[in-house]
Amino acid sequence: MSIRDILRMGDPRLLLQAEPVKEFGTPELDALIADMFDTMHAANGAGLAAPQIGVNLQLVIFGFRDNPRYPDADPVPETILLNPVLTPLSEDTEEDWEGCLSVPGLRGVVPRWSSLHYRGFDQFGKPFEREVHGFHARVVQHECDHLAGILYPMRIKDFSRFGYTDILFPGMDAGDD
Ligand code: NI
Repeated sequence: MSIRDILRMGDPRLLLQAEPVKEFGTPELDALIADMFDTMHAANGAGLAAPQIGVNLQLVIFGFRDNPRYPDADPVPETILLNPVLTPLSEDTEEDWEGCLSVPGLRGVVPRWSSLHYRGFDQFGKPFEREVHGFHARVVQHECDHLAGILYPMRIKDFSRFGYTDILFPGMDAGDD
């Protein structure tokens, strides 16, 4: 297991459409997921998508109990999600602050669906699904956007609420970002 380099905005690999995972439960997939958790935890991330470490697969991980980068967020269960499909439960959207390990040092307000249904597979190929709202719904949308080559700044509507984390939130322990 190892901590991988996280690609930063501007790298064309972050703009690709990710490929579906076809082989589940392999040692290679296990090793990749272990590296993703190591990398996410080392950066205090709330989530990480495989394309962020240069692996163009439809694989995201997310979850935390407490996160210094999002001190007000409710806990999100630790989740490994492959080949996800997201469906909003209504047209309702809400706005909140987001950051991204591929866009270090910055935060912006992003509109997201308030609640959604998602389905996909775990690392063994077992299907699962959830209905979520709030920060859990936001994290899933953010991470799955990475699989379509979308970074959160592309979703910002109001650029007066986009800026440097240490200026916007003085005193917050934002880790490296
Ligand atoms: Ni991100």
